[in-house]
Amino acid sequence: MKSVTRLALAAGVVFTAMAGQAIAAGDPAAGEKVFNKCKACHQVGETAKNAVAPELNGINGRKAASVEGYTYSDALKGAGITWDEAAFKEFVKNPKAKVAGTKMVFPGLPSEADQDNVWAYLSQFGADGKKK
Ligand code: HEC
Repeated sequence: MKSVTRLALAAGVVFTAMAGQAIAAGDPAAGEKVFNKCKACHQVGETAKNAVAPELNGINGRKAASVEGYTYSDALKGAGITWDEAAFKEFVKNPKAKVAGTKMVFPGLPSEADQDNVWAYLSQFGADGKKK
């Protein structure tokens, strides 16, 4: 009986660990590769500057359309978004569906794994562009 309980407990631990992984599913290394699709327009890291698009440092918790010196669309300025995982994934999945009138001309990332991974990659960077 005791060993059955222990087995059940062990299974519970493994399950919890897997569930935890499912929530934080992103793989930053894979996300760095996904970010190649964004690099034509966006920069991230200590030397990042605004280019075609705003730099993406400290994106986790950043207010949308808040990078100084970048001219955003009125649509994004008025969207009232603060970037967290859910808002970010929705936006990169289909930018124009989330923010009608955004000037981010990008068809979107249909794959949820790509969304998770690129979020995991970008979330590493603090506002100063250093990896946290
Ligand atoms: C063709 C250029 C282009 C590509 C490629 C592109 N973006 Fe953008 N992105 C923009 C522009 C332009 C804006 C500003 C949108 C606005 O003002 O409406 C933007 C805005 C954003 C914002 C909001 C930034 C803020 O300060 O609020 C995020 C987040 C973002 N992009 C993520 C991504 C990710 C992730 C990718 C790659 C999967 C990507 N973008 C690919 C052009 C691009």
